[in-house]
Amino acid sequence: MVSVPRGLWGSRVGFILAAAGSAIGLGNVWRFPTTVGRSGGAAFVLLYLGCVLLIGLPIMLAELAIGRATRRNPVGAFAALSGGGLWRWVGALGVVTGIGILSYYSVVAGWTIGYFLYDVGGTFGSVPSEEYVKQAFTALISNPTMALALHGVFMAATMVVVLGGVKGGIERAAKVLMPVLLAILLLLVLRSVTLPGASVGLEFYLKPDFSKVSFATVMEAMGQAFFSLSLGMGAMITYGSYLSEKSDLHTSALWVVSADTAIALLAGLAIFPALFTFPGLSPAEGPGLIFVVLPNVFDKIPGGLIFGAGFFLLLLIAALTSSISLLEVPVAYLIDERGWTRRRAVVVLGTLAFILGIPSALGHGAVGWLTSLPGIGVSFLDAMDTIFAKYSLTVGGLLLALFVGWRWGVEAALAEIAFARAPRVNGLMFRLLVRFLCPLAIAVILLQLTLSSLAG
Ligand code: PHE
Repeated sequence: MVSVPRGLWGSRVGFILAAAGSAIGLGNVWRFPTTVGRSGGAAFVLLYLGCVLLIGLPIMLAELAIGRATRRNPVGAFAALSGGGLWRWVGALGVVTGIGILSYYSVVAGWTIGYFLYDVGGTFGSVPSEEYVKQAFTALISNPTMALALHGVFMAATMVVVLGGVKGGIERAAKVLMPVLLAILLLLVLRSVTLPGASVGLEFYLKPDFSKVSFATVMEAMGQAFFSLSLGMGAMITYGSYLSEKSDLHTSALWVVSADTAIALLAGLAIFPALFTFPGLSPAEGPGLIFVVLPNVFDKIPGGLIFGAGFFLLLLIAALTSSISLLEVPVAYLIDERGWTRRRAVVVLGTLAFILGIPSALGHGAVGWLTSLPGIGVSFLDAMDTIFAKYSLTVGGLLLALFVGWRWGVEAALAEIAFARAPRVNGLMFRLLVRFLCPLAIAVILLQLTLSSLAG
C-alpha cells in the first residue's frame, strides 16, 4: 500500500479513470451485446438506458458517498454508518458477490487471451468463414487444459495488480489504455455499419419493438446496468474510500457513467450490423456472441489481424481493470476488518476465485453436465452469471438504496456528494430517486418475477 493508513488516488483524473476502468470491461463489450441479443434488441437498449440514468447514476453517487464518508470497505462502511447491526450483511453480500463474479469473469477474460493468441498466431488469417470461426472458438473453449490455463493466467494477472496496491497498480494501468480501446472500437463500428446488408442489424439494434418487453426483460436491463457500472456489491464504495476529501463526486460519477454507456453502445453498434450479414449466426448466440462475430468483421478490414490482436489485447486490459475491482472488495474487507496483510488476502481470495471458476471453465464442452446443467439446461457459467450478476447485484442495489434513503440519510449522502455546488434540482432528483424510485422499481420487478416463477 502506498500511504498510511489508506492509499489514496493520485489525482481526480486518476480516480475517474480507475473508476471508469472498473466499469468498462467485459460488461460492455461481452455481456451487453450478449444480453441485447438474447433480449430482443432495441427495446432492451432503451430500457437499459433508462436503468442507467434513473437507477445506476443515483446508486453510483450513493456508493461513492458511503465510501468516502467512511473510508472503509463495504462491510466496515455499513457497520460504521449504522452503528453495527444487520446492515453490515449488505456489505458481506457484496464481498461474496465479488468473488462469485470474479470466478467466471476470469474464464471469459481467458477466452480473450486465447483470441489474442489466435490473431497473433494467424489462426484467423486464412479467410475464415463463420463456420470456421465457430469451430475455432468451440475448440478453444472446450479444450479443458486450454480453458483452465487461460483462466489461471488471467486470475494470476489480477492478483499481481491488486498486490501492487491502489496507486502503483490500479491507477497506472487504467490511465493509458482506455483511449486506445475506444479508437479500435470506433474502427470496428465503421466497418460494421458499412458492410452490405448492415441495415437489418441496425434495425434490430435501434428500432424498438415493445411487444418483446416483459418483466423479465426489465430485470435483465437492470442487472446489466448494475453489472456494467460495477454497482450493487460495494466496488464503488471501496473505490470511493480511496478518494480524497476535496474531489466532487457528482462530476466524477457523471464521467464514469457516460464513458461506460458510450462504450457499451458502441460495442453493440460494432456487433449487430455485422452479425446479420453473416448467415448462420443468431443474435441469441449467448456468451460466445462476440467471439464468433468479431473475427469475421476483422477479416473484412485491411490489416484485420493486427487490429484484431490489438482489440483483444485491449479488451483483456479493460477486463483486468475491472477484475481488480472485483478482487479489491473482498481484499479490502479482510485487510480492514480482519487485520490480514494485503499479500495474504490476495493469495487466498485469488486462489478461491480460481477454484470456484473451474466448473465455469469446464462448462463449455469439456464436461457435459457443466455445459448443460441437469434440469436447467444452461451452462454453469450462465447459471453463475444469473445468480451473481443479475440477482445478487440487483438485491445489493435495492438494499443500498434503502440504506441511504432511509437509514444513513439522504441528507448526509447529499452533503458528501457536494451537490451544494451543483444545481439544486439535482439534489431533489437524488432524494426522489434514492428514497422512492430506485427501491420501488427494483422491489416491484423482483417481486413480480418471483411470483411469476412460483406460478409457472
Ligand atoms: N463493470 C465491470 C464490467 O463491465 C464488471 C464489474 C461488476 C466490476 C461489478 C466490478 C463490480 O466488466
